[in-house]
Amino acid sequence: MKPSLLLHAVFASALGLIGLTSCKSSSGDTLKVGEFASLTGKEATFGTSSHEGTLLAIEQVNAAGGVLGKKLELLTEDDQTKAGEPANAVNKLISKDGVVAILGEVASSRSLEAAPICQQNQIPMISPASTNPSVTKEGDYIFRVCFTDTFQGAALANFASGTLKAKKVAILTDVKSDYSKGLAKNFKTRFATNGGQVGIELDFNGGDKDFKGQLTAIKSDVPDAIFLPGYYNDVALICIQAKQLGMNIPIFGGDGWESESLLTIGKDAMEGHYFSTHCSPEQGTPEMVSFVESYKKRFNGKTPDALAVLGYDSAMVLVDAMKRANSSESSALRKAIAATKDFAGASGKITLNSERDALKALVFIQIKDGKFTYNATVNP
Ligand code: PHE
Repeated sequence: MKPSLLLHAVFASALGLIGLTSCKSSSGDTLKVGEFASLTGKEATFGTSSHEGTLLAIEQVNAAGGVLGKKLELLTEDDQTKAGEPANAVNKLISKDGVVAILGEVASSRSLEAAPICQQNQIPMISPASTNPSVTKEGDYIFRVCFTDTFQGAALANFASGTLKAKKVAILTDVKSDYSKGLAKNFKTRFATNGGQVGIELDFNGGDKDFKGQLTAIKSDVPDAIFLPGYYNDVALICIQAKQLGMNIPIFGGDGWESESLLTIGKDAMEGHYFSTHCSPEQGTPEMVSFVESYKKRFNGKTPDALAVLGYDSAMVLVDAMKRANSSESSALRKAIAATKDFAGASGKITLNSERDALKALVFIQIKDGKFTYNATVNP
């Protein structure tokens, strides 16, 4: 190697080292927290809501003086609802920005893409809302502050048998979504145990616009109800087309339905249908009441959805763990998050089990008079 080149190499690696140490320990005057979310693209309301909740939490913590003697700095990456982007986002947050932890994502497929990277780098990741059981199985640095679809699928099956008194249910699954596939599977297992009959099972690809073929086939199978574990935009189109085909059986799904856009797109085609979700802004706990009040104040009177609540809780669980660990060092932080017990979240009490999942209640919502109306609560 020529001396000048050698010098370059030494200089570059010294720079790299400086960069690395200052990043890894977040030794500046802020503690950097990363976030990746679908702020734009097909599921933009998911990321926007969870981001607003997260941002509110960070602002509140900073207004109260910060944590570990420092202010928190939230670095947010928009993954545009696109496969491939979550990996880019967390790689950047970890390697370039040097965040101490990562909050995200809502959709299970996107969390599943990012989780192995966080695990490999030993950066704790807390998903606010990904319910597919596989997410936290990616490793001991991966957590969630919501229930899983093992629970949600069983609750939906009991709802179909008990509340809807459905004997035969058709299932329409989004094959592009790990959430949809997992929830369909968990639903089927319990529904069969309940003595229910799974009728015709068909697929679609999230983002499709024409569902008439599947719906016509479902109609000829004459089920008592349709189970539709999808995301709000596809769900709204499917319900519109079902109505156009004169199908007036109940259609029901899981938390992926939760968005105001479900109503603005689906309008009266949503009437009477049901979904399960994480919490309701109307649940009168002091934590929820105070969250709703601050959120409305911060975001122009907007009513928070479950994702805003969970985004807030994911950040607050992280901050609580930083305080208990009295450190932002990755293994200490990981241990403290894992030890989260009876944390008073806005969505409800959060205790993480040995699988790093939260055991929490679920609520059923029915769409009545164009509004989300509380129907029932199911405890774990
Ligand atoms: N549970 C969904 C998933 O895992 C995400 C979601 C949560 C969507 C809550 C809406 C409300 O993909």
